[in-house]
Parts: sequence; structure tokens; C-alpha cells
Amino acid sequence: MKILVTYGSKYGSTRGIAERVAERLRAGGHDVTTTDVRQAGDLSDYGGVVLGSGIYAGGLHRDMTKLLTQQHDVLAGKKAAAFAVCLAAAQNTPEQKAEAEKYAQLFAALVNCTHAASFAGAHDPQAMWFLARWILKAMKAEPGDFRDWPVIEAWADEIASAWA
Ligand SMILES: Cc1cc2nc3c(=O)[nH]c(=O)nc-3n(C[C@H](O)[C@H](O)[C@H](O)COP(=O)(O)O)c2cc1C
Repeated sequence: MKILVTYGSKYGSTRGIAERVAERLRAGGHDVTTTDVRQAGDLSDYGGVVLGSGIYAGGLHRDMTKLLTQQHDVLAGKKAAAFAVCLAAAQNTPEQKAEAEKYAQLFAALVNCTHAASFAGAHDPQAMWFLARWILKAMKAEPGDFRDWPVIEAWADEIASAWA
């Protein structure tokens, strides 16, 4: 199937996950293009779309929300899957797990997905401007890269088979 993997990413961790998902879909025999959500273009060219977004102050990347709104009808006729990337998913408390689940549901509310997930992202204070640093400090987020590659790959492999 011809698939677009498109991502909204401010600091690169979501982009990295999108690239790994694309690799696995390709390995599963699909014809895959990967692009920043701002360059996604017309989605009618694809049979399936995988959408990835970082979470910022409880919401999706602004350009991802824009794409989902503008191309809602086109997306409705396709296979779609979505992943949210956040730091809540890196925590083990029931509250944080529930919060991470809520972020996957943000997508599910806007697009009919065969698969929706929340993945733990990354936090590098050095790369952030001061307000973002301050917000993450207030959230008591620990610096680090929490991306769980085996979990991400297993998720992509499931889509590769389901969309075959
Ligand atoms: C300004 C800002 C706000 C954030 N707000 C949240 C949040 O509300 N909940 C959360 O779990 N993670 C939050 N995060 C963490 C990001 O979702 C996480 O670092 C993610 O990996 C960022 O993706 P990116 O590297 O693709 O930009 C926030 C990060 C930033 C910079």
C-alpha cells in the first residue's frame, strides 16, 4: 500500500519515531513516504496515513491539528493510524499512564484510526528555549530519551500486517 507517515515535531523525537515507523512499514512491503506535517500536501494520493505528533501543553502540534481539520473528509476514506509522543508515557504512575492514554484519544477523536498509541518521547533541556524548559521543569520532567524502540517497532509491524 502507498502510505504517508507524517509528523509534527518541535524538538525531533517524534520525527525519529516517524522515521523508524516508516522503516518498519517499508520492511513489511509498503511504499512509504515520510514528511513533516507542514509538507504533507494532498492526502488523497495515499491509501494509508500514519500521523505522529508531539504533545505540547496537553495538545497536539498545531500543524497536526490543522491538517486533521483541513483534510478530515479525505482522511475519513482511508486507513489511518496515529501516535502521540509525550513525557507522561515515560512515567509509571497510574495518573501519568491515564494522561498518556488521553493523548492517543486526542487523535482518535479527530480521525478514525485502526491503531492509536502514546509513546514516551525525549526531553533535552539544552535544546529548548527558556519557556519550554521552564514548563518541563514545572512538570518535574526528567531529562532523557525515553523512546522504547522495541515497543514502537512492534506497533509499526502490526500496522504493516494489518494494512497488507
Ligand atoms: C512546551 C512543551 C510542553 C509540553 N507539554 C507536555 C504535556 O502537556 N504532557 C506531556 O506528557 N509532555 C509534554 N511535553 C513533552 C513532549 O511531549 C516530549 O518532550 C516530546 O518528546 C516532544 O516531541 P518532539 O521532540 O518531537 O518535539 C511538553 C514539551 C514541551 C517542549
